[in-house]
Amino acid sequence: MDAVQRIAQLRVELERHGYNYYVLDNPTIPDAEYDKLFRELQSLETQHPALLTPDSPTQRVGGKVLDGFVSVRHAVPMLSIRTETDTESSGAANFDTRVRNALDSPPEQIEYNCELKFDGLAINLRYERGLLKQATTRGDGETGEDVTQNIRTIKTIPLRLQDCEAEVLEVRGEAYMSRRHFNAYNDKQRELGLATLVNPRNGAAGTIRQLDPALAAKRPLSFFAYGLGEVKGWTLPTTHSGILDALATFGLPVCDERVVARGAQELVCFHQRIAAKRDSLPFDIDGVVYKVNSLALQAELGFVSREPRWAVAHKFPAEEQLTTVRDIEIQVGRTGKLTPVAKLEPVFVGGTTVSNATLHNEDETRRKDVRIGDTVIVRRAGDVIPEVVGVVLNAQEERNEDGRFNLFNFVEGKCPVCHSTIVREEAEADWRCTGGLFCAAQRKQAILHFAGRRAMDVEGLGEKLVEQLVDENIIRSLPDLYRLDLPTLSALERMADKSAQNIVDALEKSKHTTLHRFLFSLGIRHVGETTAKDLARHFGKLDSIMQADVEHLLTVPDVGPVVAQSLVEFFHEPHNIEVVQQLRALGVQWEEHEGISHQVLPLTGKTYVLTGTLASLSRDEAKSRLEALGAKVAGSVSKKTDCVVAGTEAGSKLDKARELNVLVWDEATLLANLTEWERT
Ligand code: IVH
Repeated sequence: MDAVQRIAQLRVELERHGYNYYVLDNPTIPDAEYDKLFRELQSLETQHPALLTPDSPTQRVGGKVLDGFVSVRHAVPMLSIRTETDTESSGAANFDTRVRNALDSPPEQIEYNCELKFDGLAINLRYERGLLKQATTRGDGETGEDVTQNIRTIKTIPLRLQDCEAEVLEVRGEAYMSRRHFNAYNDKQRELGLATLVNPRNGAAGTIRQLDPALAAKRPLSFFAYGLGEVKGWTLPTTHSGILDALATFGLPVCDERVVARGAQELVCFHQRIAAKRDSLPFDIDGVVYKVNSLALQAELGFVSREPRWAVAHKFPAEEQLTTVRDIEIQVGRTGKLTPVAKLEPVFVGGTTVSNATLHNEDETRRKDVRIGDTVIVRRAGDVIPEVVGVVLNAQEERNEDGRFNLFNFVEGKCPVCHSTIVREEAEADWRCTGGLFCAAQRKQAILHFAGRRAMDVEGLGEKLVEQLVDENIIRSLPDLYRLDLPTLSALERMADKSAQNIVDALEKSKHTTLHRFLFSLGIRHVGETTAKDLARHFGKLDSIMQADVEHLLTVPDVGPVVAQSLVEFFHEPHNIEVVQQLRALGVQWEEHEGISHQVLPLTGKTYVLTGTLASLSRDEAKSRLEALGAKVAGSVSKKTDCVVAGTEAGSKLDKARELNVLVWDEATLLANLTEWERT
């Protein structure tokens, strides 16, 4: 085979593997093999420079640095669509009505193609006879910029279309940065102490307008096709969804999250479904787009003031907004964790009004250098705590030096609430106040946690009241709660007699609790509700938990070294033991039992190994049923294995079992025995 043939073969092969890997997310060869083919092509092209063409996969890595971008007039203008924020059902109904009214004889139900509104940068890809010739930005819609070099670095964009020989095919779509790539890029930059990207959209825009394509190649972007520009020599399908299907067969990335809907009601359904999964998508979107599906109807509908009458975008509430910082405070959490929080000019973002946003920790605060008076981007996505993404720097504006956040507090400072020493352990991102329950902030949070619905469940003991009780030094420790009496409560400001009585009653009622609630209410680090339940079930008695060592704790399912260590430390502290004793002396009680650690189950001490496919139950089911009977289920066979359960197509583990003379059961024997043991 000569070089010409081999080069052609390698290019086809590499593009195919690239497509499987990047577009279909389904790699067909190992990375190392791909690299080998890639290097072979590179070296052939170096030996035969005349054979190098722009559609070669080697040309994606970025060529020479540009002086600037060349303006290009679009063959067909790149228009935008009407965008509405009124996303209630009336929005969809209004659109449907507008469409129907504009048509001479509208069909019974209009068919729409529903898509996502990707949050990136609009790009026009010009293919001539299947080859990517030019890529341009939207610009002002009439003229854009030639960004071909940078667009070539996007691995999901084919340099050559599959089975498309159209004389001209302009594909329009959105270049974007996935959340994964955005986070990975920022993590790396942070490690190097370099500037980070504010959000994926800016990341995409900045990358495409990058004059050095090698730098562009380092920030991986993706692309979704959503429409066409100029087309010559290709017979169009009759619907927009048909166009998207065809683009996908040409090897172009088209988002799967699209449906053909009929009538306004189905548009509303799509909107709701996407709004619910917005935060779990791997990329940012800012809404949905509805397009009349029939191209004939689109042509009849035409345009009004440069916007197609046949399409509309319904935006979701923005997850990012600009606002100003009024102040910066350090908040002290229940476990003493210190969190810098920006106090903001209230702003509507992600569906609610936000006036506090976290700055996370010292390093993040330093990196962002947020100062009082700054304009910042606040982000609130889903139910996540609102955060300050970054400062918007305005070159004309002098920054407020006085507003610089006093990191001194962190460096050698004291807890802002109780003035105890603060510590930041190596490898930890957070500073912690060592004041424990001496610290009023920690005490307040600890009491609120203790009284919480899933803990001791003291009804009516809310934030305001706890604040009052702690600030007036009425409650200094958890047991003090149960020392509250009617006269003390009634004497508090703004406290009616009736409310005081309700609190006393609620406290009394809360004394009758369960072991896991009590354990959870103590607020031991890393001991959440589930762990508390596991511990209570396993040990049955508080004293056994208090006396357990790390080794014993580790035998509890789902308890790892961090939890075990934390428990041992907590119950090692005399102060904590006293708190527990006082609470019990004040009448806090629960039922105890022997604990399953002391019960001898039918399979206690036995080790089972599962292998092959079981027909009537999943491996996980078999495992949990065996474990519930006290067995350990291991992953490999050894001399210590008591029994191997072999399903169909069992392989090396079965061989090993035979070799070691370990008992082997088939599925039927396992089932018969399980049923038998479970009955006892
Ligand atoms: S269609 C003539 N579809 O939103 C119709 N646009 O003004 C042209 N966008 O900046 C646009 N996702 O880049 C269309 N599925 C989608 C889109 C989409 C995002 C962007 C587009 C433009 C703006 C629309």
